[in-house]
Amino acid sequence: MKLLNRLEEYSKSPAYPFHMPGHKRRMDSLDPRLPWQLDITEIDGFDNLHSPSGILKDGMDRAARLYHSRRTFFLVNGSTCGILAAVCAATAPGDTVLMARGCHKSVYHAVELRGLTPVYLMPSWDDSFGVFGSITPAAVEQALCGNPKIRLVILTSPTYEGVLSDIAAIAQIAHRHGVPLLVDEAHGAHLGFDSRFPQSAVALGADIVIQSLHKTLPSLTQTALAHLGGEMIDERRFARQLAVFETSSPSYLLMGSIESCLELLKSPQELFSPYWERLERFSGAMKQLQNLRVLCCGEDSPARHPAFFAFDPSKLVISTKGTGLTGPALSQLLRERYRLELEMAMGDYALAMTSVCDTDEGFTRLSGALLAVDAQTGAKAAAKASPIVPRLPRQRLIPAKAALLPGSPTPTPDCGGLTSAQSVWAYPPGIPLLVPGEEISQEFLLQMQELENQGVALYGDYGSPAESLRTLDLTQQDFYG
Ligand SMILES: Cc1ncc(COP(=O)(O)O)c(C=O)c1O
Repeated sequence: MKLLNRLEEYSKSPAYPFHMPGHKRRMDSLDPRLPWQLDITEIDGFDNLHSPSGILKDGMDRAARLYHSRRTFFLVNGSTCGILAAVCAATAPGDTVLMARGCHKSVYHAVELRGLTPVYLMPSWDDSFGVFGSITPAAVEQALCGNPKIRLVILTSPTYEGVLSDIAAIAQIAHRHGVPLLVDEAHGAHLGFDSRFPQSAVALGADIVIQSLHKTLPSLTQTALAHLGGEMIDERRFARQLAVFETSSPSYLLMGSIESCLELLKSPQELFSPYWERLERFSGAMKQLQNLRVLCCGEDSPARHPAFFAFDPSKLVISTKGTGLTGPALSQLLRERYRLELEMAMGDYALAMTSVCDTDEGFTRLSGALLAVDAQTGAKAAAKASPIVPRLPRQRLIPAKAALLPGSPTPTPDCGGLTSAQSVWAYPPGIPLLVPGEEISQEFLLQMQELENQGVALYGDYGSPAESLRTLDLTQQDFYG
């Protein structure tokens, strides 16, 4: 915790701050609830995140040793800035990339900024819980064989719901084709420290791995790491792109939080053993469920999900399928009756995120509440849930071209058959349902309606997508080139 120690020491020193930030650490006149005393800028002795050679470089080197990467970067603008930088470092404008359709919107934003042509991989679908499964090595192989222009493979593993893909096999395939693999491991910073959890993509041969520390480990919001493995991604190119996408005023409070989190990870047994035991006890309690189900927990197991390569047990995906409750209704019930706030809910499931910081009391309250709700629900015939993106939409223009064009707002019910100039995404999980340049099919409009009926929050680039969408008139060929 060298950085935090030095920040604390400095806060007690008589040094007077004729520098940013403007609050000047005036604890006597500022809101005492905020940690002003540790919030400094790049003054002497505190190094520079974008050109590290001192205390920050040492911290990042320690992180690289901990995660077994070639080089690790601290990120203070979340995984988002790491993903933007990674895609831009690994591609040239106009390249083609192979990406999972379930990627986070930051990947789509990078594709748009770089003028890339996306080739999509649809993940398999797990019908029993209504969640996306893994991307298979065979699908990656087939896509790479079919399109020699592909310059980068981009996958999310684990997904928001905890589903992992076979990164070791996919990395080997990508490398055989001379293509690097970027893994969005925003939900997997806790992986690789305990053999009872899946391995991290860093150890499995991925070339760039981006992790949000704040999502699954004890660290402040916005803290993340970028790891480089292998030799395919030039570290100076990546650092240059980070300088484009990451603030030039990185918060020392956030960087101190990263170091303090990594310090905890040096004793993984102490963190992960009690956590595993809590998860096991929870899983045991879930065996009593009659109607609700928890993914890979209780009577359910990974073996029942052929669409999954592996599953991260930290995610508790509670299925309401066949109970008459929807995921959002369960989430509301847990909030209002049991004061339990879940991470997200959509369709037929609600998602509880856990971490090494969860307590016995937290797990007991959740298991008690689920058993009580379960006892009040009856078994009902389950409606068939459909994937958030049921079928790949037709791509008429690349996203960069379509998003740059002016387009015109069109009432959503009239958009069938037109081309979209905007994105529509569900948040959470932040996965786009529609991307600029794609055909707005009748099926998409129905799907949007269905998701809204289920209480899923949909967002568009230009206000409520339920009311209007920005569309393009592709008959103006000259204009669109
Ligand atoms: C799969 C995935 N990737 C990337 C991100 C972006 O991470 P951050 O919020 O740390 O920028 C998220 C955030 O929800 C995510 O779920």
